[in-house]
Amino acid sequence: MLPYRVLEKLLRQAVQDCLPEANSANVLVKPCADPKHGDYQTASLMPLAKERRLNPRQLASDVVARLRLPSWVLQVEIAGAGFVNFRISAAILMECLNAAARGEHLFFEPVERPLTIVIDFSSPNVAKPMHVGHIRSTILGDGLARTCRLLGHRVITDNHIGDWGTQFGKLLLGWKQSSDRTSLQRDALEQMERIYRGINAACEADPAMLEKARHELVKLQAGDSENLKLWREMIERSQAQFADIYRRLGVHFDYTLGESFYNPRLKLVVQELQNRGVARESEGAMAVFFDDIPELKAHPALIQKNDGAANYMTTDLATLQYRVENWKPDEIVYVTDGRQQLHFKQLFTVFRRWRPDLQLKLAHVWFGAILGEDGKPFKTRSGDTIKLTDLLDEAEERAFRVVSEKNPGLDEQQRYEIARIVGIGAIKYADLLPNRQSDYTFSWDKMLALNGNTAPYLLYAYARIRSIFRKHGAATDSSTASNTPMTPADLSAEEEVILVKHLLSFGLVLEAVAEEYRPNYLCNYLYELAGYFARFYENCPVLKADEPQKQTRLLICDLTSKVLKQGLNLLGIETAEQM
Ligand code: ARG
Repeated sequence: MLPYRVLEKLLRQAVQDCLPEANSANVLVKPCADPKHGDYQTASLMPLAKERRLNPRQLASDVVARLRLPSWVLQVEIAGAGFVNFRISAAILMECLNAAARGEHLFFEPVERPLTIVIDFSSPNVAKPMHVGHIRSTILGDGLARTCRLLGHRVITDNHIGDWGTQFGKLLLGWKQSSDRTSLQRDALEQMERIYRGINAACEADPAMLEKARHELVKLQAGDSENLKLWREMIERSQAQFADIYRRLGVHFDYTLGESFYNPRLKLVVQELQNRGVARESEGAMAVFFDDIPELKAHPALIQKNDGAANYMTTDLATLQYRVENWKPDEIVYVTDGRQQLHFKQLFTVFRRWRPDLQLKLAHVWFGAILGEDGKPFKTRSGDTIKLTDLLDEAEERAFRVVSEKNPGLDEQQRYEIARIVGIGAIKYADLLPNRQSDYTFSWDKMLALNGNTAPYLLYAYARIRSIFRKHGAATDSSTASNTPMTPADLSAEEEVILVKHLLSFGLVLEAVAEEYRPNYLCNYLYELAGYFARFYENCPVLKADEPQKQTRLLICDLTSKVLKQGLNLLGIETAEQM
């Protein structure tokens, strides 16, 4: 067991002894923010004391008095308002390194209680090209799914594509009016967008046109065979284009259940909500009112319009019902932009009233906008929305120039492959690094810089460590290193100790990412890791060191590269052995 887990377990026991009625599962151990205070810290005793009107420092000292600590804890200290800090020995660090070398862990452990977590992300709309707004949902959702999965949760990813709704009335009308069938064959998505723009303008200008579009929609909803056929064609063509982007991004979904999948449930959902008294009729429509919730008071949720049509909310309620029935999740996570905050607040509140019996965590993980360098929403020079394919192409082209400059000796094919990894990686990393709730400015120069908190920097750090092993003649990797018994005295240099302690926090960072849905914690962790490694490598000879130090240091190099690779993989970023 990793040291923080051991400490957590002992603390929970001690808390249970002191406060038998307390929920000790909430007692958590984190790395100390400032290493001056120790290696690990718990802040969990203070809220426990506060709830019971106890003196927090007194509770801390009662708990500490009951801790039966292992010999590797060098020091326990009660600090501030009731924190408890721990300092651990170099011996336990060596033990962890050796266990990692034996493949027992990579500085993280599976969670004790695996959950079933549904992650609803990407979810683009049919008949519209995927644009940069969808990229954040795709990259963020994929990163969260990968992290939760690695920690041992059962993750179900579901792409809730927008394949139903009022836009199809206009699209059908536009499609039927379009004479240019050949270009529809060639670049369907671009043409569909062009058709949509044209017909939308026409509908705005001419109420008769709008009426015609509505008529097409009614026909589609009534199951008109020609309209259904055209609708299916639009979906298929869109899906093909989406699939190509997901392939390039390395993103995979367990399910792609679009909005239309839930059509057969909509009427029943509205009826059930009415029967249960959750929804009521209002001016011919059906709505849920939130008079008791100040922030929602002015925003009732419409679940059926006065013409009987269902909407986005109805579909999301039916989707929830389906997921609960079929997947029995503990948690459902929705990844969309911040403009949908009200929608999800309404949705979650309606669902709680509908199913008060369920212990289901619902989370809206929202994010800010991507801005251009002029501070306005990211657009092309002519003001069009930027298409994702073009963006990925440009990233790879630009990365090719960076890679060629850095390492002109590599053959062209190799440089193309590295550029693909660096280019796509740079886009993903730039997207994941900022606090997701703030807008961020898209800058090619920043994201492709070889220095700074960027994907190219981390990828280069990784390749550099791998080059140590190439120099070493590949004679040593962790498997041979593990045969050499090592003594704690081997960790002599300060830079070594700092680096190894940082490796040991990997699992805690992953848990924080999963808990708060913030992959930026992992980005910063990896950036720090690369920095600590650079300092270690500058100050501690590796290949020139004497045995057994050389073995230990090679092991540290190897494990650092493994954590870098694993961490980047969780961000959806591939690695290259050379750069
Ligand atoms: N298709 C929607 C959009 O592009 C996002 C759907 C998010 N998921 C959901 N269950 N509502 O805005």
